[in-house]
Amino acid sequence: MKIIVCDNHHEASKYVAEIFIKQVQNKPNSVLGLATGSTPIEMYYYLIKDHKLNNTSYRDVITINLDEYVKLEASNSQSYHYFMEKHLFSGIDINKSNTFIPDGTGDINANIKAYNDLLENINIDIQLLGIGRNCHIGFNEPDDEFQIGTHLVNLKQSTIDDNARLFFDGDYSLVPKQAITVGVKAIMSAKQIILLATGKQKAQAISNFLNSQINPQFPASILHAHNNVVLVLDKGAASLIGKDSYDYTE
Ligand code: PGA
Repeated sequence: MKIIVCDNHHEASKYVAEIFIKQVQNKPNSVLGLATGSTPIEMYYYLIKDHKLNNTSYRDVITINLDEYVKLEASNSQSYHYFMEKHLFSGIDINKSNTFIPDGTGDINANIKAYNDLLENINIDIQLLGIGRNCHIGFNEPDDEFQIGTHLVNLKQSTIDDNARLFFDGDYSLVPKQAITVGVKAIMSAKQIILLATGKQKAQAISNFLNSQINPQFPASILHAHNNVVLVLDKGAASLIGKDSYDYTE
């Protein structure tokens, strides 16, 4: 696992944006695995800025998102459909029919099956991940075993708390308690994985999964089994890791 430590959130966001921009320039029909949350917002801003300045085109790109809340319509401003439209899709020339996000409304089982069918037929070139304070990736929460495929998940209280703090105007009662998320199979089958984490509040999660054997109680620890993972951190998120054990660049 390669670890890149940037000075701050802006630099880390720029660093990751450049990886994605190069990916799309080198392979215009790339399949990008995308994430939501507060962390990637600035990274997406840099993709839009580059698209406007340099005409990097997303016309032939396919995007696959990790997760979506249950029972939020795409038109709900807290849904991840809305998030992606607002923070990325509306600013680039992507073909909307090439963008995929799990559907958290209607027949959940049918939606899960449809997403698994989609994932069976697609190879993600590069997967963007964030990480939860409890080490979740996507919404793969700590559990007794890893969930392989797309599934319905009951969100942990710490995840609900974080999501209420950052979104939903701080109103816990509005935060959905369930989500649909891809499982570890889809994440691990990406050719390359970029995990972006910034801020001291992520330092413990980073240290926990780096120092853990593969363990479903620290879902991000599954990344130890992938041969092309880059962690892009800022100094805060990197503050608890031992520099000797990894391919570590400041
Ligand atoms: P955050 O969420 O970017 O809002 O911290 C990351 C995650 O839960 O994966």
